[in-house]
Amino acid sequence: MIVMGIESSCDETGVGIVRWEPGTDEPGRAVLLADEVASSVDEHARFGGVVPEIASRAHLEAIVPTMRRARAAAGIDRPDAIAVTIGPGLAGALLVGVAAAKSYALAWDVPLYAMNHLGGHVAVDTLEHGPMPECVALLVSGGHTHLLHVTDLAEPIVELGTTLDDAAGEAFDKVARLLDLGFPGGPALDEAAARGDREAIAFPRGMTGPRDARYDFSFSGVKTAVARYVEKCRRDGVEVSIADVAASFQEAVADVLTFKAVRACGDLGVDTLVLGGGATANSRIRSLAQERCAAADITLRVPTPRRCTDNGVMIATLGAHVIAGGAQPSPLTVATDPGMSV
Ligand code: KG4
Ligand code: ZN
Repeated sequence: MIVMGIESSCDETGVGIVRWEPGTDEPGRAVLLADEVASSVDEHARFGGVVPEIASRAHLEAIVPTMRRARAAAGIDRPDAIAVTIGPGLAGALLVGVAAAKSYALAWDVPLYAMNHLGGHVAVDTLEHGPMPECVALLVSGGHTHLLHVTDLAEPIVELGTTLDDAAGEAFDKVARLLDLGFPGGPALDEAAARGDREAIAFPRGMTGPRDARYDFSFSGVKTAVARYVEKCRRDGVEVSIADVAASFQEAVADVLTFKAVRACGDLGVDTLVLGGGATANSRIRSLAQERCAAADITLRVPTPRRCTDNGVMIATLGAHVIAGGAQPSPLTVATDPGMSV
């Protein structure tokens, strides 16, 4: 069975193709055939964030050529099934991928399967690291921050917690803008932080008080604390150490994310933690996750950076698991669900 995955929830138009190999004694697995991504990230840079209308237009221009490239790379004419992200994501952006998926499903007479973007971030790791045991997943990107409990990729995922305000990557982008580091700011902030002292400034750790929900996050407080700190330095005529601010902010975010993820593993008795989303490229989130997982005897699984960001292969891989699990196809009338939870 060959599955094509279509992803258009944010600023990446992704088309991936996998072949499902059913296992005999062990669980089946998806094998990568093609992975094509067109990104409109450069078009958003001068606005300092993703502009939904620009993203939708870019998807419209990219979707057919990206599908063509993926089919050529996989050496196939048509897949046996199409899996498509219906949410969560930007409403107009999702519509483009879903309209394309429906059109091709109808034209090729192949079944269509509606997918949740978040499950894709977890499923994609199986391409590199094999079948997924029960796990906790920490997803951090410019659009989402979620802590999930996955028992089986073919089954519904349980959301343990999410951000109450900014996504973690969004907070990185906003703080980077405050420090004049450009957009997307996460990588630039990470680089600046490497030269700084992460203990220089004690920025607050949001949602870690005794009365806070155990697995939810909040990053607007730390972002405001950075803004206040920089303002105060400027008012007092004190030079701001960009490197120290970046390192201390990064430490505050990485600390909360990894603390809650490892705590969730302990609470649920799960010994595998999976990271996903573009912001898991962050060096401190990775190193702290490694340190804390090693100390708690948890296996840490992190896909290659290219597959941590949005792509079509993650949707194809999730689709293959869901189809192999016996799911029924979605009707061609299936709607997008921008605010979809898991
Ligand atoms: O998954 P992604 O490519 O797109 C979505 O947001 O869906 O993630 C991009 C986000 C941006 O906010 C970017 O600043 C952040 O991930 N990011 C990082 C790093 N690399 C990317 N944040 C912190 N440190 C990094 N090294
Ligand atoms: Zn994503």
